[in-house]
Amino acid sequence: MANNLLKGKRGIIFGALDENSIAWKTALKAHEEGGKFTLTNAPIAMRMGKINELAQTTGAQVIPADATSEADLANLITKSQEILGGKLDFVLHSIGMSPNIRKGRPYGDMNYEWYLKTLDISALSFHKVLQTCEKLDALNEYASVIALSYIAAQRAYPDYTDMAQAKAMLESIARSYGQRYGRSKKVRVNTISQSPTKTTAGAGISGFDVFFDYAELMSPLGNASAEDCASYIVAMFSDFTRMVTMQNLMHDGGFSSSGITEELVARLSK
Ligand SMILES: NC(=O)c1ccc[n+]([C@@H]2O[C@H](COP(=O)([O-])OP(=O)(O)OC[C@H]3O[C@@H](n4cnc5c(N)ncnc54)[C@H](O)[C@@H]3O)[C@@H](O)[C@H]2O)c1
Repeated sequence: MANNLLKGKRGIIFGALDENSIAWKTALKAHEEGGKFTLTNAPIAMRMGKINELAQTTGAQVIPADATSEADLANLITKSQEILGGKLDFVLHSIGMSPNIRKGRPYGDMNYEWYLKTLDISALSFHKVLQTCEKLDALNEYASVIALSYIAAQRAYPDYTDMAQAKAMLESIARSYGQRYGRSKKVRVNTISQSPTKTTAGAGISGFDVFFDYAELMSPLGNASAEDCASYIVAMFSDFTRMVTMQNLMHDGGFSSSGITEELVARLSK
């Protein structure tokens, strides 16, 4: 049921690769709620993914941008305002990639060039998006900027390797930039820490199925789906959350506050 939560609002959605992507579900939800937006992804993902299908369904234009390139971001943010007819009210950063994970390198054998790439793509790009928006004065008052995080920012997960540092940095950028942008323009900056979700990025982590099932058993509400996450993101874009900023918001069915659950006790009892 749509409630026009984003009626009259304009935005940019990064990271819709295919129909499993959290950004894809968010684009559908934002469209349903009356929001207008442009879609973007890395030029290489344009060729692999299906973003044009999503663009047709949502009436959005697609503007390629490598989120690590300041020039690409300036072009994207400028063109988005031209296409949408004014300053922006929401931005979703739904971007993550680790060459070390992709190539199966363990944490004790990191390739440091790739490590820096992980940080650039998955965390620093968030700062670049915010800084470019600020320099171009592209956001309206009370605009809402969201990036997606994971609890490996706070807890150790053996196979999440350098992405754990990227997520810790991402959450820190949300606090530091949220403070700056809140004071100067009343812009809100938050991260949402999402349950394990079956997407291309999620399934790329070895042992993903095991920690997906473990998180399901540890969460009183079960794992939050990509659709649930999309609804939360849209709520965070809406005017109902105007005073929420500089937070890392847990969207995990209660996982992060559970020590153990009866389901896990039953499963592990000898
Ligand atoms: N899937 C999970 O279990 C899970 C859990 C918590 C948080 N997250 C986070 O959610 C976000 C979205 O991931 P997803 O699970 O929807 O997977 P996904 O693979 O569908 O999305 C990741 C996106 O990042 C894009 N990307 C990679 N390099 C880029 C670059 N240089 N410039 C621009 N875009 C680039 C990819 O093209 C892709 O669209 C990521 O930040 C991810 O870490 C995922």
